[in-house]
Amino acid sequence: MSEREIIERVPKQLFIGGTWRGSDDGSVFGVDDPGRGSRLCEVADGQGVDAKAAVEAAVRAQDSWAATPPRERGEILRRAWRLMTDRADDLALLMTLEMGKSLTESRAEVTYAAEYFRWFSEEAVRIDGNYKRNPDGGGRMVVTRRPVGPCLLITPWNFPLAMGTRKIGPAVAAGCTMIVKPAQLTPLSMLALADLLTEAGLPGGVLNVVPSTSASRVTGPVLTDPRVRKLSFTGSTEVGRKLVEQCAPNLQRMSMELGGNAAFLVFDDADLDVAVDGAVTAKMRNNGESCVAANRFLVQSSIAEEFTRRLTDRMAGLRMGHGTESDVAVGPLVNEGQRGKVSELVGDAVERGARATTGGSPAEGDGYFYRPTVLADVPEDARILREEVFGPVAPVTTFDTEEEALSEANGTEYGLVGYVFTRDLDRAVRVGEGLDTGMVGVNTGLVSNASAPFGGVKASGFGREGGDEGIGEYLETKYLALTLRS
Ligand code: SIN
Repeated sequence: MSEREIIERVPKQLFIGGTWRGSDDGSVFGVDDPGRGSRLCEVADGQGVDAKAAVEAAVRAQDSWAATPPRERGEILRRAWRLMTDRADDLALLMTLEMGKSLTESRAEVTYAAEYFRWFSEEAVRIDGNYKRNPDGGGRMVVTRRPVGPCLLITPWNFPLAMGTRKIGPAVAAGCTMIVKPAQLTPLSMLALADLLTEAGLPGGVLNVVPSTSASRVTGPVLTDPRVRKLSFTGSTEVGRKLVEQCAPNLQRMSMELGGNAAFLVFDDADLDVAVDGAVTAKMRNNGESCVAANRFLVQSSIAEEFTRRLTDRMAGLRMGHGTESDVAVGPLVNEGQRGKVSELVGDAVERGARATTGGSPAEGDGYFYRPTVLADVPEDARILREEVFGPVAPVTTFDTEEEALSEANGTEYGLVGYVFTRDLDRAVRVGEGLDTGMVGVNTGLVSNASAPFGGVKASGFGREGGDEGIGEYLETKYLALTLRS
């Protein structure tokens, strides 16, 4: 399909109880193309009453959905995986238009996103329980698992599809209904996904989607309703903390996938080609707008100059342009605010003595482009070493010993992911285990995988998405005590 057809066809309303409808007061908001700085279309702007209607729909559908055979739930996900795979090009184009990333990146995200549906279609039929004899011999214990109930799922703009399927997949597999609040900047991919899930056979009311210009207008009425039993959120630590407070009165279960400040450690025994490839992936996937993006490059002093030179060459060679153009590796940042934040952090580092070996400034022209940047000689007090840059900037610092590397890497409030590059297996295990993070990439710049548990520790949040653990976040354990009379 052409760009125009894609935008014309995507639903632009709220999806509540299986029907598309306008917002209560008829209001709409604009969705823009960050690569051109132009308007793509307008979408219904969900109000508090709409959020309440979505809760009612989710609550109404909950019991019959929970009673639907797991095989049937799994097959809906399997069909959705197939539809996503067949329509990957159209979904990718839609994502590139609203978010900016290159078509290659968007296609990779569609595959990654669809994998969550395939994985959880297989998990739906493996929800386990157990039966055991009471230790005193007098009775039996039956342990079962049941869906937690209606969930609120809040998804970010950086991975508009994958962060949706990573939550919707296990919720569907477990038998939960849901209200999804997609990011204001990128609601179109989620609306297209709702349409596709309906085509795959998802009954009305199981998935409700409420885009809105005001997150609190949706989260307020949803989380104050005690019938909503879970929140899954991907976004900043700052917003995560506020949502945790909002869940306190009703003690809703929570999964929090929050900010990161990933360290990328390169030891002098590393294969430098592998390390530089890994660095480009860990830094430049999604234009650097990812919570697992390498935020700090810690390189052993003896190879720091060579590593920086090679990384600089690779970053300088990346073609920047509108995501729909061929051979583009780097698209625009999502909006002016994001670009401003990147400029500010680079400016601060340079003022304190860092040196840009490539890039170091926004690009001229339409769209929110920022040049791929490598910063050398970054001083310890630079803000960029503490704050998540969420952009195409690689700050390099040096270390001498393994202890020093680990202490610097762990010297952050965040704990999502770390990367280690070394050819020494003992060191890889020591450092991998020593990093205070939920995930570690060993000689790879990519840890994301639908069949692996994704999540962090400390200020990066709690709970795991994907993998064997993913469905557990949407299940409660229930135990039946059986007393035997004879
Ligand atoms: C994120 O940036 O929030 C998630 C990245 C991923 O799943 O790879």
